[in-house]
Amino acid sequence: MLARLLLLTLAVTSLLASAEEDRVEQLLTQMTLEEKVGQLSQLGIQNTLSGPAIDPGELTHFPITQVGSVLNVYGAEHTRKMQEQVVQGSRLHIPLLFAYDVIHGFRTIFPVPLAEASAWEPELSRRVARVAAIEATASGIHWTFAPMVDIARDPRWGRVVEGAGEDPFLGSALAAARVRGFHGHGPPDLSSMMSTAKHFVAYGAAEGGRDYNVADLSERTLREVYLPPFHAAVEAGVEAVMPAFNELAGVPMHSNNALLTGLLRNQWGFTGLVISDFNAVWELIPQGLAQSPANTAQLAFNAGVDMEMASQSYRQYLPTQVGSGQVSRQSLDDAVRRVLKAKERLGLFDAPYRYSDEAREKASILTPQHRALAREAAQKSIVLLKNAGSLLPLPKSLGTVLVVGSLATDAQATLGPWAWAGHPQDSVTVLQGIQHAVSADTQVIYLPGASPDSPGTQGIAAAQQAAHDADVVIAVLGETADQSGESRSRAELGLPGAQDRLLRALLETRKPLIVVLMNGRPLVLSTNVQRAPALLETWFLGSETGHAVADVLFGDVNPSGKLPITFARSVGQIPLYYAHKNTGRPPLGDAAFESAYIDVPWTPLYPFGFGLSYTTFAYSPPRLSTTRLASTQTVDVEVTVTNTGQRAGDEIVQLYLRDDVASVTRPVRLLRGFRKVHLAPGQARHLTFTLGQEDFALLDERFIPVVQAGTFTVFVGGDSTTQNQARFEVTDSRRLSTPGPGAPN
Ligand code: NOJ
Repeated sequence: MLARLLLLTLAVTSLLASAEEDRVEQLLTQMTLEEKVGQLSQLGIQNTLSGPAIDPGELTHFPITQVGSVLNVYGAEHTRKMQEQVVQGSRLHIPLLFAYDVIHGFRTIFPVPLAEASAWEPELSRRVARVAAIEATASGIHWTFAPMVDIARDPRWGRVVEGAGEDPFLGSALAAARVRGFHGHGPPDLSSMMSTAKHFVAYGAAEGGRDYNVADLSERTLREVYLPPFHAAVEAGVEAVMPAFNELAGVPMHSNNALLTGLLRNQWGFTGLVISDFNAVWELIPQGLAQSPANTAQLAFNAGVDMEMASQSYRQYLPTQVGSGQVSRQSLDDAVRRVLKAKERLGLFDAPYRYSDEAREKASILTPQHRALAREAAQKSIVLLKNAGSLLPLPKSLGTVLVVGSLATDAQATLGPWAWAGHPQDSVTVLQGIQHAVSADTQVIYLPGASPDSPGTQGIAAAQQAAHDADVVIAVLGETADQSGESRSRAELGLPGAQDRLLRALLETRKPLIVVLMNGRPLVLSTNVQRAPALLETWFLGSETGHAVADVLFGDVNPSGKLPITFARSVGQIPLYYAHKNTGRPPLGDAAFESAYIDVPWTPLYPFGFGLSYTTFAYSPPRLSTTRLASTQTVDVEVTVTNTGQRAGDEIVQLYLRDDVASVTRPVRLLRGFRKVHLAPGQARHLTFTLGQEDFALLDERFIPVVQAGTFTVFVGGDSTTQNQARFEVTDSRRLSTPGPGAPN
């Protein structure tokens, strides 16, 4: 019975699939060259705070009936109207795809991706992306330009905030989780949204951390570090990929046939859409690769960019180029087919307005459940960096609390960058969160003191004066939302404005002082910041910022976040990351001619994976199921983690692996596993990680994935500096049968 049902379902599904294909093929036969090229164009429409700026008069000038997709239009009503205009006003009634940057939530704003990565919880990332998709699709959006999966090891680069940090293993896990979250159960489910892995590839390696700048990497670093999260996104079913603005070793990514077609399409088997970045097709001109817009169209299309965002080179020049044979008709049809199939999958041919439903929009946005998830995600994203004398958590019954720093009341800052559909008035500021949390008898005083976007020092004296009279001072310091994100590179990474001077003045009062950092990148923390007894990294936490910060400050929540990116001591150390190579002269600190600095320690201020808790955890030495194994076998690494403190808490247990000797140099250690455990005071848990050939593998001199015989050191602990280790030996070498992301074509 079951088998028959299954057969029937399969038959119906394949019938439907072929009906869909028939429709797409049918359309292709009816379309003119111009109509086809139109489908490969995405119109960039300006968005304003109150919604997309669509002036009906202006609409008549917009050739929206001639494009395949629009960017930045949302709202059930707006999208319906525009869809109507396109479906009714175009010859073949092909609906639009509505695209938008849903980066960390839509109306309910969640922690910025770098913050969320501090939770090290792929399931949380999946749930967050799911809610973002529920809200955005209810507002008419079909397609998001997320997840951003760029590895970033240079905090000067403002877009560090949009990704998952410095590590490809953690980054891949979160990339896949976010893709799954946006996708949900998939169409025809109305909350399923197309996602985009961006920016392909090595955007995060921009020289000097300056946005859009050249990247010039070794092939090894590209394959080992920058490509894996994209591969993970493709494996998870991502529907689109966006090339990066940068060039890579002389070839702009928008004309990079080897990577867009050779690797992504042919080797990885990616069948979705390649959408250009904003205007980036045209930018091949200043990049020095094309002489004219006509040139750019040909170069980008032939490299493998299906759809052009914002610039209009495709619409203007591809038809002639197909006619003259500079662009193949077959490739054009393939690209159009991919666009039409995406529309078909979403059910838009049968029901073009299905995503634009005002009732659903009203019911889906900023619901109590969504806010609850935003609060949970925010709580889990906070990293406790320092807590001298167990100053935190604070009692709620304090007499007077002074809250200082303009960021404490900056609702826009709570949202962080890339949250255009979020409304600051929906956010709980840090001050509001504290006011809400303390006892009725506690007096909360607020003074701005200083602000990140002004050099003004006039508020400092009053703040210092008030600090003298307070029991506790909470200084909320960092960056505004606008100081990180796209084109927000910084060369200095200290606290902007007069915030550091404010801090010095507060320290002089010798009052218990907690620094709450709000920022989109690892800052270089001054000696004043380091002198503060307690330090919380809260990044930009979204709509529920204030509540989540107060939950941690006053102990309703025990912080559990761990840094997904290294904190350098000095800008001069950048790039600084845990998975570095050893060099022939490792900095052991006992000889003069070592790989170190003479003026600053070479080590980070806070390493990757670091984060404290209000309790403490102890680790047993790792126990191995075997210390000698064949390359095809696995080894179990067991460790006992015990909560040795007085409070329940979550610990993120991290496993790192080092290949001690190999035919190419290897990083000193690589993250190969992580697990979050909840432990009551005194409770112990045994955890087992299983390592196998994928974990032992490396790319050899010819980039062939191999396991090489020899010893491996495994480290298990609470951050990337743990020395809790054991060693095992793999007794034979072999080539891996699965190529993996980094293998050559
Ligand atoms: C430029 C950004 O680089 C990209 O990430 C974004 O998706 C597009 N603009 C569209 O807003």
